[in-house]
Amino acid sequence: MNIILLGPPGAGKGTLSNKILENLDAVQIATGDLFRYNIHNKTPLGLKAKEYMDQGNLVPDELTIDLLWDYFDKQENTKSSDKIVLFDGFPRNLSQAQALDQGMEDRGQKIDVVIYFDVDEDILIERVTGRRVCPNCGATYHIINHPPKVDGICDKCKTELIQRADDTLETVKNRIDVYNEQTAVLIDYYTNKGILKSIDGSKTIDEVFEEFKHKLGEIN
Ligand code: AP5
Repeated sequence: MNIILLGPPGAGKGTLSNKILENLDAVQIATGDLFRYNIHNKTPLGLKAKEYMDQGNLVPDELTIDLLWDYFDKQENTKSSDKIVLFDGFPRNLSQAQALDQGMEDRGQKIDVVIYFDVDEDILIERVTGRRVCPNCGATYHIINHPPKVDGICDKCKTELIQRADDTLETVKNRIDVYNEQTAVLIDYYTNKGILKSIDGSKTIDEVFEEFKHKLGEIN
């Protein structure tokens, strides 16, 4: 089953992905994580992407769409219909959504459901500016809502947590503007296709996961 997680920065897409990966048979494709991997390894793609990400702007489509399919095609898991494939942070505009539709059709697949996270903007800012991530294993925390057991240290691999470079207040505000200008249009796009399901992303992490499973049950 192919699932898009659609929502603004800080809506909880990555956090729900982690819950699903821990509890269900799933694979995640997160374009933001793929870019950060390239930045960390100082690849030519990473150097280009960094210019856009540091400002909170979208990386150009020609780089993003190639990256997405390159990764998708290398994953054995994406070919099994038994697996849940999570698209986290892709697509982010109409042309990416159309490229995704075409690419899935070319591979004899389709997007089954789009989970839209409905969350107020003030909550998003509080969540993103309080986020801390593990640079080693990718685990995500929040200084108040979801703190690690030991302050500043990853529960899973004991690495020191960091703040993402684009999680400053100024950059987060721009990321939310970019979302409203370019990504929010996808709510109508997928509603018109009859595959969008909304969840209340302002609830607790466990409640969001329960609501996700409930929505999944409706289409199974
Ligand atoms: P990306 O990495 O995709 O970031 P994003 O979409 O802005 O989303 P976030 O990771 O900020 O939020 P999230 O919804 O995953 O929230 P999380 O679960 O971590 O993209 C980064 C950049 O890469 C973009 O700006 C762009 O430049 C580039 N890029 C990526 N994809 C691209 C594309 N397709 N095209 C072009 N450019 C692209 O949660 C946030 C915090 O809240 C955490 O601290 C968490 O613990 C906490 N939290 C989560 N859920 C809850 C809850 N239910 N209750 C309480 N706290 C919660």
